[in-house]
Amino acid sequence: MRRGLLITLEGPEGCGKSTHSRRLARWLKGRGFSVVLTREPGGTPLGRKLRSILLDQESLGLTPWMELLLYEASRAALVSGVILPALKAGKVVVVDRFQDSTWVYQGWAGGVDLEGVERLGRAACQGLEPHLTILLDLPVSRGLSRVARPNRMERKPVAFHRKVRQGYGVLARRHRRIRVIRTEAPVGEVQEKIRQVVERVLKINRE
Ligand SMILES: Nc1ncnc2c1ncn2[C@@H]1O[C@H](COP(=O)(O)OP(=O)(O)OP(=O)(O)O)[C@@H](O)[C@H]1O
Ligand SMILES: [Mg+2]
Repeated sequence: MRRGLLITLEGPEGCGKSTHSRRLARWLKGRGFSVVLTREPGGTPLGRKLRSILLDQESLGLTPWMELLLYEASRAALVSGVILPALKAGKVVVVDRFQDSTWVYQGWAGGVDLEGVERLGRAACQGLEPHLTILLDLPVSRGLSRVARPNRMERKPVAFHRKVRQGYGVLARRHRRIRVIRTEAPVGEVQEKIRQVVERVLKINRE
């Protein structure tokens, strides 16, 4: 049986996470892998309810601290209900956003104590870390201009989004699992680069 592999896609608004996670999952399936494609928040019935609270509702007075708790609740459900069972079955799991988003949005840019964010994250993930994280990077204004109908997060001030991008840079320097890929190029070219990175990790995973 193949060993399971967890690949996460991260990056600021409109960088192409959803586009590329779908394409990557399709390509992996075509190569004969058993693939689970999911997203955060979402991916479970609880996650979908929390997603609508977190991303649609302006009127609830959510602070970054409250957001953190809701995101981690959603993540705990996804990890135990979807990701861990899939990894045990030897599948490749592709997730559109994961714990790094929380570190960056609620911690680095949102101001919640980073150690607290990390501790809660480890608990929600049961210690699970991605094998590979693709960080899609492009200038904030380019990303925001790609977003057609902005949600609650995307409507935050540009200064917040600049901090988000900066925070991702900090994480990328800190973790070897994170590979940065710039996404100004056409979608096909960017996807090709992603596949090359994934190919190398798949090879290591088989050894
Ligand atoms: N390399 C690219 N060049 C031009 N347009 C792109 C590129 N990548 C993605 N797009 C377009 O940008 C828009 C945003 O992409 P996508 O929804 O995949 O980003 P995202 O990172 O998932 O955004 P969000 O943070 O809002 O979930 C889409 O309309 C997509 O087709
Ligand atoms: Mg998306």
